[in-house]
Amino acid sequence: MNFYPDDVIEEVRLNNDLVSVVSEYIHLERKGGSFFGLCPFHREKTPSFSVEPTKQFYYCFGCSNGGNVFHFIMHIENLDFVEALRFLADRAGMVLPEPDNKEEQHKIKLRKDILTVNREAARFFYTALAGKNGSRAQQYLYSRGIGIQTIKRFGLGFALDDWSALSKALMAKGYGEDILISSGLSLKNKNGKLNDRFRNRIMFPIFDLRGNVVAFGGRVMDDTLPKYINSPETLCYSKGRELYGMHLAKKSLEKKLLIVEGYMDVISLHQAGIDFAVASLGTALTNMQGRVLKKYAEEIIISYDTDTAGRKATNRGIEVLDQLGCRAKVLQIPEGKDPDEFIRKNGPEKFKNLVDRAISHLEYKIRQLKLKFPTDNPDGKLAFLNGVADLLTEKENILEREMVMKNISRDYDITIDTLQAEVERRLNQKKRKEKRNEFNQKKRSLTGSIGSFSVKRKDGPRETHEHMLLTLLSRENHLYSVVSERYPVSSYSEGSNREMAEVLYQKLSDGNDFLLEEYITKLEPAKAAMIVGFSKDCNFEEPEKAIEDILKKLETIKLREEMKDIQAQLKNINDVNEEQRLKRQLQEIIQRMCR
Ligand code: GTP
Ligand code: MN
Repeated sequence: MNFYPDDVIEEVRLNNDLVSVVSEYIHLERKGGSFFGLCPFHREKTPSFSVEPTKQFYYCFGCSNGGNVFHFIMHIENLDFVEALRFLADRAGMVLPEPDNKEEQHKIKLRKDILTVNREAARFFYTALAGKNGSRAQQYLYSRGIGIQTIKRFGLGFALDDWSALSKALMAKGYGEDILISSGLSLKNKNGKLNDRFRNRIMFPIFDLRGNVVAFGGRVMDDTLPKYINSPETLCYSKGRELYGMHLAKKSLEKKLLIVEGYMDVISLHQAGIDFAVASLGTALTNMQGRVLKKYAEEIIISYDTDTAGRKATNRGIEVLDQLGCRAKVLQIPEGKDPDEFIRKNGPEKFKNLVDRAISHLEYKIRQLKLKFPTDNPDGKLAFLNGVADLLTEKENILEREMVMKNISRDYDITIDTLQAEVERRLNQKKRKEKRNEFNQKKRSLTGSIGSFSVKRKDGPRETHEHMLLTLLSRENHLYSVVSERYPVSSYSEGSNREMAEVLYQKLSDGNDFLLEEYITKLEPAKAAMIVGFSKDCNFEEPEKAIEDILKKLETIKLREEMKDIQAQLKNINDVNEEQRLKRQLQEIIQRMCR
């Protein structure tokens, strides 16, 4: 699976500091020598996800996910190892050598070809819109207030009312069937001929950040359903990653971004001079999109529809942005209009006013509560108060909390004392709970002797102790001669423990250093997580003593196994001499165990 030399892989790892990589995904806070944050791999309210800056490991106490920067990227971006490697090389501005693998080379070429054919298709659609068969489409766009400059800027086009106009044109230019299909532009029909995916639709090219055409959306010009058809996911396009209009919005001078729902909203907003609008295209905001937004803006304003689906998407968006440590605001358009409609009716200035008055996400949530629990009766009022206190408790910044409390008590007719008391009560509860968690975590980690080590893994005691031995030795290389003499490679249980021992012992006997951080790169994620977990637990103050304890324990385990073996043999034996011999052996073992 590795098409790249080890030293290249290690260089990529060293060039991507784990703390800064992880910080692009979640908000981390320093606590002692480590960083903590909310785990991106499972839902949680108190941080149990930790990053070790020196060891360059991450580990979650909640879900036991762990590893180094490669595992993190593989998990969070859902990539295989080679893809993660490339992703991180890219991030560090490194150029990887060509992989010496046919399949990988093929993928790289295919990706390039898809981008080329997409660009060609965008040109074809654009030309068709300007041509005589495009007059109805032009009319449609003009009727929606879209001018020629905007058409150009967004590269809008028209897919002719024809079964295969595009496919034929592209094949005539020399593009093969396979590339037309893998780009999603064409589909094979029953007779094995190519049909165009987009027919008789207004075409919206979707650009990535670099301005490549990665996909298309196509809209009907009447009420036919489906209203939009989009390109399928391809090697170049995943809909949870792209943001429509981002390639333009990233150049905006404003330090904010506005997220809306649709193509037409983005286009209409840009035409009105609101050039920091992007769309998440019909899906709720994903983590990946959130990260792109965070990179380009300090303030992110969500302006989705006010219907149920839109409210859900808003809440999800806030959650995503919150976890990333972004400042999220919400813009609600009066009368349930979408931005495009609002601008067409009220003009750009009115919309800009709305942008300036976007509310904080806390305020948004409080307004949602107010809608949910009408406060004109005692029950509703109490439910509202409880909800508000819950929200306020999550606010970490005290000053901000105080300020918000003042506003709420003013706006919602709650005395500030009541509010303060409720929040105080919750904060104390939270503190007690955190103390408990901390205590449990401490109890779990190992200090000094192995006696207090509690293992919740399904491996047997032998595997577990072998693991400890390997982890310790990889940290304390100078103990190699003691360990290898008393527990040679051949003693390890077969499988990954012995494999790791082989690599480790070999390196150390050659006088090389062994870096656990580097070693786990090649391990499958579950295994890497386990080793990192162990490594976290192993905080030995006296490594020599710990090693001695572990070796003794392993020896005992070995003797006990031998004992069981002999006892089993003794059960069905006929030969008296043999029986005597085995019994003597058993005696010997028992004596050795008592030593
Ligand atoms: P107009 O109706 O022309 O104003 O378009 P719009 O961009 O405002 O669309 P709308 O608000 O209805 O939907 C928001 C976004 O959801 C669209 O831009 C599309 O990305 C997506 N969407 C809407 N309808 C469909 C559909 O039928 N199929 C798919 N795949 N996506 C859709
Ligand atoms: Mn619309």
